[in-house]
Amino acid sequence: MMKEVNYPGWARYLTQLMKAAGLDSRRSKIRGEKLCEFGCGTGNICLVLSKLGFEVTGVDSSGEMLRVAREKVARRGANLRLVLDNMVTYSGEERFDRAVCVYDSMNYISTQEAVGRFFRTVSDSLKPGGVFVFDASLESNSLNDASLFVQRGRHRGIYYHRKSHYDPKEKIHTTYVRLKKDGKVIEEIHREYVYDLHVIRELFTQAGFEERFAAGDFTMLEANNKSERVHFVLVKPSHD
Ligand SMILES: C[S@@+](CC[C@H](N)C(=O)[O-])C[C@H]1O[C@@H](n2cnc3c(N)ncnc32)[C@H](O)[C@@H]1O
Repeated sequence: MMKEVNYPGWARYLTQLMKAAGLDSRRSKIRGEKLCEFGCGTGNICLVLSKLGFEVTGVDSSGEMLRVAREKVARRGANLRLVLDNMVTYSGEERFDRAVCVYDSMNYISTQEAVGRFFRTVSDSLKPGGVFVFDASLESNSLNDASLFVQRGRHRGIYYHRKSHYDPKEKIHTTYVRLKKDGKVIEEIHREYVYDLHVIRELFTQAGFEERFAAGDFTMLEANNKSERVHFVLVKPSHD
């Protein structure tokens, strides 16, 4: 919140993970490949991936996030498709070569059942052999960084106040955000749902995905329960 995220670096990390998982991610290979970002927000990763050569679609359930994304796309003259929809139940016609879902978007899904449904939706949206890379914020992240965490300051003319709380019993990480700009106040509450590594694995395996790699904390090292963030590289098997 209110700090610069290195989106080009994050997008580069995603392609490095695919490469480490044995998937061809050379520019010549990805040019023209269809990629969908689920939970695309204001389109930051979409824009970088589009620049790398992917034909990008972004799906998000927030009209406000997509409004900002559309402004950025128009400003940069980028060519990508943005769809207002719930990623848990999305059922577009197009089949993608790759899908991504990053920066906690999966943690916004409030039940295990819905997470399982989301994985089936992503699988249905992919071509056989398609690749899905997503991240999940794990409990260590909430315990280490968010418990009663308060942040205040000013960034690009916006005054912000952010308070975060983690409930380990319910495994819900709540962030209260108050933004003030030109006398206008915006208040938001974000709820993120924390799932154990083995639960996430069970759910995507039930959806038919094969795991190629699970990397911890923006490294190329295998994730474990102490990792704060895990990036999974999954493949939809070709035989279905
Ligand atoms: C923390 S933001 C991450 C945005 C983007 N991936 C990025 O890296 O900047 C999470 C996004 O997930 C979206 N989201 C949460 N639940 C969703 C759902 N069920 N369907 C579609 N989008 C969802 C939110 O609207 C929000 O834009």
